[in-house]
Amino acid sequence: MQEPNLVGRRVLVTGGSSGIGRATALAFASAGAAVIATARRGDELAVLCDEADSLPGTIEAVAGNLTDADFPAALAKTADPVDVLVNCAGMLGHGPFLDTDPAEWPKVWELNVHALMCVSQAIGRGMRARGSGHIINVTSILAGRAYRYTLPYTATKHAVRGVSRGLRVELAEFGIKVTEVAPGLTDTPILDSFSDDDAAADYDARPYQPLDADEVALAIVRVALSGPNTCPERVEVHPLGQTA
Ligand SMILES: NC(=O)c1ccc[n+]([C@@H]2O[C@H](COP(=O)([O-])OP(=O)(O)OC[C@H]3O[C@@H](n4cnc5c(N)ncnc54)[C@H](OP(=O)(O)O)[C@@H]3O)[C@@H](O)[C@H]2O)c1
Repeated sequence: MQEPNLVGRRVLVTGGSSGIGRATALAFASAGAAVIATARRGDELAVLCDEADSLPGTIEAVAGNLTDADFPAALAKTADPVDVLVNCAGMLGHGPFLDTDPAEWPKVWELNVHALMCVSQAIGRGMRARGSGHIINVTSILAGRAYRYTLPYTATKHAVRGVSRGLRVELAEFGIKVTEVAPGLTDTPILDSFSDDDAAADYDARPYQPLDADEVALAIVRVALSGPNTCPERVEVHPLGQTA
């Protein structure tokens, strides 16, 4: 069997302006892929595109808000044909459940679950037409467990585990693979969003160091390099010592 490679493969990465998505865009471009990175902040995406100038692959930016109803379809129109979709955009929210504002819960759901489904549908249609593709959903170890003070986020990540299972079942007949990559704590700007002292204290008390975003990106690229008849279902990437 010929060794799989990513040279010239078209890869769409959501959340490309920051953290894991940014590192993933660079990792795919380093492997020779033609990357399309999307996020709201066009200025950050422009810096990312410049960084790719020295790499074997390319990065092109498409700025937009994934929770705008029309954006996922417009994004698919620009990005298609997409070989690999990495659904990485996401947001967090902290606080003891009984003290959180229910008005905030749908915002997390809208981005982490609804927008991910909309993008997967828009891009998945093109993959179905071509009879191949790979959708990689970035969840979290909180897709399978719970910590204190992150309940609305935990609910969305559990949901995306279910979405990943459902997509895998429905899309296999069209030659589309679906993989969930579930990182543990990773050092990215999302961790700056602690708005709650108790949650921040829990974070400070952890007995391990967070992952670097590049380590998660490497795991995502390895998933995309799986053989043509191999569909990794879930890859969990824990920092050494994050065992519970
Ligand atoms: N860091 C961790 O410890 C950790 C652990 C497990 C899983 N994860 C998951 O990894 C993924 C990436 O998180 P990260 O840690 O890399 O966080 P991050 O650095 O904050 O990146 C989040 C990305 O999502 C984009 N985004 C947010 N709202 C958006 C919107 N409405 N429309 C389009 N793009 C939007 C942001 O770009 P703009 O602001 O430019 O729009 C940014 O590129 C998330 O799904 C997160 O749940 C993170």
